[in-house]
Amino acid sequence: MNHKQLVAGLVLGAGALTAMAQTDPLRFDPSKFTNGSITMPDGQEVTYKAYEGIFYVKNVEDPTYQTLNIYVPDKMADIARVPILLRTYVGGYAASTAKSPSPSDATGRALQEGYVVCIPGSRGSNSTIERDGKTIYTGTAPNGLLDLKAAVRYLRYNDALIPGESELIFTDGTSAGGAMSSLLGATGNSKDYDKYLKKMGAADARDDVYAAICYCPITDLNHADMEYEWLYGCTNTGVRHLSEAQIAISDELAAECPAYINSLGLTEKDGTPLTADNYKDYIKSFLIESAHRALQEGCEISDTIGFTFYQDKFGPMGGGPGAGRGGMRPAGDQRPPMGDGRQAPSFGPGNAPRFNKTSDFVTGLDLDKYLGYVASVTPLKTPPAFDQMGVLIDTPSPENKVFGNDKGEAANFTDFSLRHRLHNPNAKLDKDMVERVAIMNPMNYIGSGKSDVAPNWYIRHGAKDRDTSFLVPINLATKLQNSGKNVDFALPWNRPHSGDYNLDDLFRWIASNLEK
Ligand code: DHB
Repeated sequence: MNHKQLVAGLVLGAGALTAMAQTDPLRFDPSKFTNGSITMPDGQEVTYKAYEGIFYVKNVEDPTYQTLNIYVPDKMADIARVPILLRTYVGGYAASTAKSPSPSDATGRALQEGYVVCIPGSRGSNSTIERDGKTIYTGTAPNGLLDLKAAVRYLRYNDALIPGESELIFTDGTSAGGAMSSLLGATGNSKDYDKYLKKMGAADARDDVYAAICYCPITDLNHADMEYEWLYGCTNTGVRHLSEAQIAISDELAAECPAYINSLGLTEKDGTPLTADNYKDYIKSFLIESAHRALQEGCEISDTIGFTFYQDKFGPMGGGPGAGRGGMRPAGDQRPPMGDGRQAPSFGPGNAPRFNKTSDFVTGLDLDKYLGYVASVTPLKTPPAFDQMGVLIDTPSPENKVFGNDKGEAANFTDFSLRHRLHNPNAKLDKDMVERVAIMNPMNYIGSGKSDVAPNWYIRHGAKDRDTSFLVPINLATKLQNSGKNVDFALPWNRPHSGDYNLDDLFRWIASNLEK
């Protein structure tokens, strides 16, 4: 919006802008900045203007978290419309303060590319304030999401004053932050959030976004338990070492999953209906694609983890397609390549599988064997994986905490776990909880007509990430694809539960969506 800023500046003058900011608490003040810089991994120094500690709602409840920071690079990208990367650092559904840019993630890289960066804070499961001598928990669901939506509204409300295009917001987050990014992408302008946002004094502006970048989103929480057991149940008596009581819960949850899969009405790209009967083949297709790409990039994949290969009869250095790819790693580097263009950050002695096979392409996958391998790298969660409180253990999960109340009491968010905790087969979540769970699930919005869903999506979930079932990101990506969105989805090889990796790939994707 550089031209708009110029026009606003010319028409109003700097003094008038400052006066506006003083009378309207949600008006951005372009005169209040400090200068900052970061040094990127390639040695380049990136300088920027920092606008920090900005309250993005009128009725601030929790000043520690309800602020955002904006970073504007001194060297803006030389393009007509400069995007804004909105990065949330939410993890574990906890509160997150507004942060400054980091050279090692997408925020630093975005500034280096000449893009504007916004890093909002948001309330979460552990944020508290003191009121009338009492501790109040401020960040129970959906409050963290509402904060982020209010931050989007702030950017739109101040579009004429903040450099960058508020029509080109790319949200980015990992894990619970990936879930938040998926919610920002899926729920734009939905009326379901209006009453809350109004009460908070959020800006009167749109909150749909242009693109959502979601790394390993921990979402679809009210189905995640059944999805986990349906997938990983094959390991219950093997590497997972479950007790009889745990196996009973696992089986009961898994039995609920086929009906859920069938209810989604998803189709493969060629239009084939996806059902519980062919869904595992669909999962396999993504893992095979991931392994195949890894081989092409020079990874060696063990023949003990479930994949079968076409064997190049000339061997790794022979004359067949892809020959010699096994030798691409730098000498002395013992780390297995990631297969997505970057090396793994580190591998401890306990979790470094020996990759010993180079070949040309993958011909098949024994899914159960591969899932056993994933479970051997990082022990699986025990059932129920998410709504665990009071079922077999008392400990609340991060999700139980975020669905808790303002006294800090955790809560169940599925009928299944509530029934088990209360030993009452007829127990049901109350209406308020049903609504809170529904508005925290992006799957309820995609293709529903209830919201303006972002047109562009970049979704990644590591091929050895077991924090949630593969079904969660696959269903999300497929539902978006089926509703006509532009979706770039992959299960990158050898990646654990993590995000903001392979930034070259991400920023190529961002640039490709700016040219349109
Ligand atoms: C996160 C990870 C989890 O396994 C989970 O259940 C919730 C959140 C996280 O890393 O944000």
